[in-house]
Amino acid sequence: MDKIHLLDEGLINKIAAGEVIERPASVIKEFIENSIDAGSKKIAIDLREGGVSYIKISDDGEGMTPKDAKLCFERHATSKIKDTDDLFSIKTLGFRGEALASVAAVAKMMIQTRQEDETEGTRVIIEGGKLIGSEPIGCPKGTTIEVENLFYNTPARKKYLKSFSTELASIMDIVTRYAIINPQIHFSVNHNGKKTFSSPSCDMHSNLVNIFGLDTAGQMIIVEHSEDGISIKGYISRPPATRSDRSNQSIFINKRYVKNKVITDAVYDAYHTLLTVNRHPFVVLDIKIDPEKIDVNVHPTKIHIRVQSEDRLRKAVFDAIRNSLINSGLIVDLQESSFQDSAFPSIRQAKLDGSLSGRGSTSEYRPTSHRKYPVMTGSQTMLEGSEPLIAREKPIEPTKLDLPRFNVLGQVHRTYIIAEVEEGFYIIDQHVAHERILYERFMESVKNGKVRSQELISPARLELSQKDSLILKDNIDVFVNLGFDIEEFGDNSFVIRRSPIIQDKQLQKEDIMDILDDLLKDLSESISIDKKREKMLITMACRAAIKAGKILTEKEVHDLIADLMKTDNPFTCPHGRPVIIKMSLYELEKLFKRVQ
Ligand SMILES: Nc1ncnc2c1ncn2[C@@H]1O[C@H](COP(=O)(O)OP(=O)(O)O)[C@@H](O)[C@H]1O
Ligand SMILES: [Mg+2]
Repeated sequence: MDKIHLLDEGLINKIAAGEVIERPASVIKEFIENSIDAGSKKIAIDLREGGVSYIKISDDGEGMTPKDAKLCFERHATSKIKDTDDLFSIKTLGFRGEALASVAAVAKMMIQTRQEDETEGTRVIIEGGKLIGSEPIGCPKGTTIEVENLFYNTPARKKYLKSFSTELASIMDIVTRYAIINPQIHFSVNHNGKKTFSSPSCDMHSNLVNIFGLDTAGQMIIVEHSEDGISIKGYISRPPATRSDRSNQSIFINKRYVKNKVITDAVYDAYHTLLTVNRHPFVVLDIKIDPEKIDVNVHPTKIHIRVQSEDRLRKAVFDAIRNSLINSGLIVDLQESSFQDSAFPSIRQAKLDGSLSGRGSTSEYRPTSHRKYPVMTGSQTMLEGSEPLIAREKPIEPTKLDLPRFNVLGQVHRTYIIAEVEEGFYIIDQHVAHERILYERFMESVKNGKVRSQELISPARLELSQKDSLILKDNIDVFVNLGFDIEEFGDNSFVIRRSPIIQDKQLQKEDIMDILDDLLKDLSESISIDKKREKMLITMACRAAIKAGKILTEKEVHDLIADLMKTDNPFTCPHGRPVIIKMSLYELEKLFKRVQ
């Protein structure tokens, strides 16, 4: 019996829609791209319930004729390409003719549109991909599309949607990216009737100030570079103004927001030693490449692209970032001619021998002669029965857990502490060890209602991005509970009068930014107040803890280990990273082949 049959069109469209439209943010992305392709200067978005129940996007672009309005939601209907040549030199954001068809297949949709030279506009209603009605209508120039009940006919897909606030966060993420790269366009977002975002038309830097707040935007340096047919413009952060996650990095190729590892690797290579562990620069790069030299037709969402010459792109991005760091005096150019003859691989080489680090570098690794604390060398290997070579205080007696007695031998690479125990030795990461200590102490003081906090010498003003300010407003009670006195002070700005003290460090406004980054990462789950508080404590402990790369005195090392031993869990830091790694004598002997 024959078993193969052709699928009906509705089902084909639903399958195809799955690739393009995953969540409300995908609808917004596709619609914004269409509005930009239509030459709009104003894009207004209205949402209800994270865009799940309702999305409306209005633009003042070129609009569509009545005939086009009835055709645009058919699959493979596009005005942007005609033939194969066009496909390999894409100049618009869209070109696959799939987005409207995909949305139409999984939602109820209404399109209202008018071109400038027409007296009347058109309104079409589509349900389940089928045209239900169309009529002439008086409307302003441009296009408005409304989408109701996304995934109403694909319940399986609907189940995968997250909370409304998570869906809204993804929408805001995509709107923000397109607003960054299109300062000439006025974007606005209303959610459940409340103004959530607005970026009036202005120049690129004012746009960044508006979107990210003065605290972040004020720390940026300009990037302007062109080589090998690639032009790069944008802004990057000065090394001290880094963030704890990568979400503030936006790379655009020909105004398309892309994710590309070659480019991000080149950015990190260029910053090299200027970044400390787990710190990420703020990056906005507007890269222009001949459209014939890239392929954007890699995936239906068009977020990944293929580049003909990756090495050239990598080198251009590296040079662009490096030059602006050099020009702003943040690093010294020691490698003037290192990239001649397209010798990009030499970067990796240079990295290995450290020759790229220069003045002003906050490098974690300085020559060993800078060390103050004695360092273990090969000759200091402990021999059975011999006295340790480093003078030290009394062996530490652990108090909470049944751990063996320690003899602290010293600090290596200004990051790890080596402690000898009877049956081997421990390697302790000084940063995570301190994080664990501070976390437990701080947690204790929160539980007892005895958080230490202090007024700042002068109140600090916090100018946040629209996204960060929403999160802060939502969580202000938790901040207060942890010893902050923060008050809203107009649009996206706040005043901090008092902040908690952990160890002897008083938290500053940069610390608050990190706490916000961390809170944002967890928006995908609606977490309880207790969990939020715990997360904030972890970030605060991390900010206040001794950093890797800090030289410690003998007493500091000793106190640190003694304090660590008093914690409930000296083995892992609150982030779950190991604090102590144990190397037993047996393992050592195996490595040296003394035993089998
Ligand atoms: N906001 C808009 N303004 C003007 N024309 C639009 C708009 N949105 C869609 N269109 C028209 O509908 C067509 C189909 O859109 P879409 O399905 O997104 O495919 P693509 O963008 O890949 O061409 C577009 O090629 C364009 O001509
Ligand atoms: Mg499109």
